[in-house]
Amino acid sequence: MAKLGVNIDHVATVRQARKTYEPDPVWAASLAEMGGADGITMHLREDRRHIQDRDVRLLRETVTVKLNLEMACTPEMVDFALQIKPDQATLVPEKREEVTTEGGLDIVSNRSTVATAVRRLKDAGVEVSLFLDPDASQIEMAKNVGADAVELHTGQYSLALGTQFDESLATLQQAAKQIRDLEMTLHAGHGLNYQNVQPVARIPEMSELNIGHSIVARSLMVGFERAVRDMKGCIER
Ligand code: PXP
Repeated sequence: MAKLGVNIDHVATVRQARKTYEPDPVWAASLAEMGGADGITMHLREDRRHIQDRDVRLLRETVTVKLNLEMACTPEMVDFALQIKPDQATLVPEKREEVTTEGGLDIVSNRSTVATAVRRLKDAGVEVSLFLDPDASQIEMAKNVGADAVELHTGQYSLALGTQFDESLATLQQAAKQIRDLEMTLHAGHGLNYQNVQPVARIPEMSELNIGHSIVARSLMVGFERAVRDMKGCIER
């Protein structure tokens, strides 16, 4: 059964809209755990648009499930991660002007930068996952640079309609087999919601799903703990 990592970035987005103290992502993380979250995920962006350094430090102390820090592959972010020591770091590409993480990391073109970051994190005991498009050459390079896991970018899948939906699911299934054959762990995320999560959760190799926006959106209507519990239900059904 795939585990659920709850991404709490957008709780911090609401707080930062007023630059106040509420809602605190630390509260949301506690409620997510009560709702059955297997992990808490946050993205410390270089522009600090939602999650702040203080959030990551506090969450490291308070979260009792897996703590997954999404981060850009820069020496400064690796230095920060080495102070915090999350259970897992997920390396993602980052552009300041983007609304959200728009594509996977290009490790084929940035091999040595990624390999250095992976090595520094792994030497400190942090598991490393790389956020990639379902592309065979990128996945092969993930193994090459020593990643423990690949998180497949499900953005395209989540936007696909009709026959495109079946094609993008088949692409994810194919990539999943390649990741298994290379003996890496399979994660997935981006754009997953209560309607589209099940086919991805059913991919046999799937170990972890990282889901944020749809859970935070539903939590405004039903509360955070219930929104997480509902998503766990979708994954388990
Ligand atoms: N996984 C990664 C690597 C991401 O960058 C994001 C978005 O921050 C997510 C998962 C969660 O995406 P969503 O908010 O669309 O569920």
